[in-house]
Amino acid sequence: MKHDYYIEQSELVLKPLEFIDLEYLRTLRNKNRMFFVNKQKISKKNQEKWFKYYLTKEDDFMFSVVVGKITVGFLGLYNFTNDSAEFGRIVIDETAPRYTAARAICLLLDFFFEKRRLSAVVCSVLKDNSRAKSLYELIGFKKYDESESLIYYKTTKNSNIKTTKKLRSIGIL
Ligand SMILES: CC(C)(COP(=O)(O)OP(=O)(O)OC[C@H]1O[C@@H](n2cnc3c(N)ncnc32)[C@H](O)[C@@H]1OP(=O)(O)O)[C@@H](O)C(=O)NCCC(=O)NCCS
Repeated sequence: MKHDYYIEQSELVLKPLEFIDLEYLRTLRNKNRMFFVNKQKISKKNQEKWFKYYLTKEDDFMFSVVVGKITVGFLGLYNFTNDSAEFGRIVIDETAPRYTAARAICLLLDFFFEKRRLSAVVCSVLKDNSRAKSLYELIGFKKYDESESLIYYKTTKNSNIKTTKKLRSIGIL
């Protein structure tokens, strides 16, 4: 959806996804397509079509992840119910500073747990994506189910607050 949330923590900023970001999003996404359920290569035309549709969707928030004015990746929150939402579509360039993904996700979740009074956020990951599994576990997601190819993770508002405190104490946040 078209939104105007800017979420900042020192040099890290989450900005609403804009048309101008689409080529970089497409490049990063295509480069990492083996880590996503939909592994199809995305054409320029399909990326723009997806963006037009995204703008019309209720409660679908995509952000660019910006570090010191440079866009290094993307992430999103969508599939809202009364008190939960799904996190995903994350892709961060490998040249971004260490813990960019961890910090960006924590910042996003802190903001939405508060703003939308969510009690839980879920996400899913392909079983062979060990980087993403380690990342989600580091920031406090717990496995609650699995299918043949996917692991389903969940975090709650309270565990997110505890994780945020823990990561702050070890200097990640
Ligand atoms: C997964 C991804 C978002 C991680 O981004 P990142 O900014 O490198 O992650 P961070 O620097 O915040 O790393 C946090 C933790 O993630 C895990 N991790 C990140 N990169 C890793 C790697 N190369 N090998 C193993 N674990 C890794 C580690 O647990 C790391 O903590 P540690 O450094 O203390 O061990 C990024 O690699 C990516 O975009 N991958 C391709 C797309 C993708 O898999 N998306 C998720 C789909 S579910």
